[in-house]
Amino acid sequence: MSEHCVWQNLRAATLAPRDNDAWGIVEDAVIVTRGDHIAWLGERADLPPEFAQADRTVDLDGALVTPPLIDCHTHLVYAGNRAHEFELRLEGASYEAISRAGGGIRSTVAATRSASEDELFALACERARALMREGVATLEIKSGYGLSLAHERRSLRVARRVGEALGIEVKTTYLAAHALPEEFAGRSDEYVAALCDWMRDLHAENLIDAVDVFCERIGFSREQTRIVFKHAKALGLPVKLHAEQLSDQGGAALASEFSALSCDHLEYVGDDAIAAMARAGVVAVLLPGAYYFLRETKLPPIEKLRASAIPIALATDHNPGSSPTFSPLLMMNMACTLFRMTPIEAWLGFTANAALALGLPAERGQLGAGSVANFGVWSASHPRDLVYRFGHSPLRQLVLNGQMREAIEL
Ligand code: NIG
Ligand code: FE
Repeated sequence: MSEHCVWQNLRAATLAPRDNDAWGIVEDAVIVTRGDHIAWLGERADLPPEFAQADRTVDLDGALVTPPLIDCHTHLVYAGNRAHEFELRLEGASYEAISRAGGGIRSTVAATRSASEDELFALACERARALMREGVATLEIKSGYGLSLAHERRSLRVARRVGEALGIEVKTTYLAAHALPEEFAGRSDEYVAALCDWMRDLHAENLIDAVDVFCERIGFSREQTRIVFKHAKALGLPVKLHAEQLSDQGGAALASEFSALSCDHLEYVGDDAIAAMARAGVVAVLLPGAYYFLRETKLPPIEKLRASAIPIALATDHNPGSSPTFSPLLMMNMACTLFRMTPIEAWLGFTANAALALGLPAERGQLGAGSVANFGVWSASHPRDLVYRFGHSPLRQLVLNGQMREAIEL
């Protein structure tokens, strides 16, 4: 028999619109969980008697309860760091120039290859736990610092193990098309052919949930991206794209042809591509951490994305080169201060729209009867408070599949 638990003395922000309130706030709420699902959620006064009988009652002492966060774009599996490149950039070197000189992604590839699988696992778990301490219960993890069959396999396996070890949902993304490894120097078309072969093997090992490409001057061309996408589609795998981060390569329009789940970054995306994304139902994933850390000045076209009714997701883009952050809450604050998004847009960006970017139903970002019993319990009175403050996580507990975990123990 699954445990029947009544959670009371709380304010719920369900993020399911309710009486013209986009936050879906339920004052003096009760949540009834049965095993790993929410069986009932509503005002205490409306609690039906059949739900009132509990195996266990938890008093949340007036806390705010929200859906847990979904970080839909991370590069969590790597070794080493790039603090030295940060210094070089402060002295005037550009991210692109460092990459062309053999640093950048390729320096992380060298460090990652020389680490053991268990070291990579320990590092990735530590990073995932830092995200959980800010309310994350669903996480996308990309490969892309291995760049050989064996090393990409290790990274994807580590990503799967992180999900199992921490009890959170991890979606894996195959990003072998992240940079050209040294052993393929001058032979980028051959590398693309090789990584498409590896994709077949890794897919057969059930290691891949989606396929991504870094389509950029320092990454892969539009035509190479098309080849990777064709292979993904032939295997029935959804695609995503690092598109228009540093320049307009026409990546977002191409990704739309392949009905991509998402196009990510998008600072340099053009109007026609926005229209193509809207037609194809592609989610725009904006990454304020990378925008900030690379001191980008070209804003992603928020107003046009809004006008086209494209769902806008946000993510940490945690990686050692362009976004070494562990804070989704800070990303929400930056989305508002830097991109002029609203606090509710920031929340939808880390909940319902992030779910869509991973091919999950939008309801995964809401609380209500039938949802998985996952939620964040915060010392705050309203979710907008969590966007307004920065550099502070007031998470008290994270409830995963009906089980409460203290934030300080994560
Ligand atoms: O999303 N742009 C490509 N990938 C990462 C950066 C990776 C790195 O610099 O290590 C990004 O910004
Ligand atoms: Fe990225």
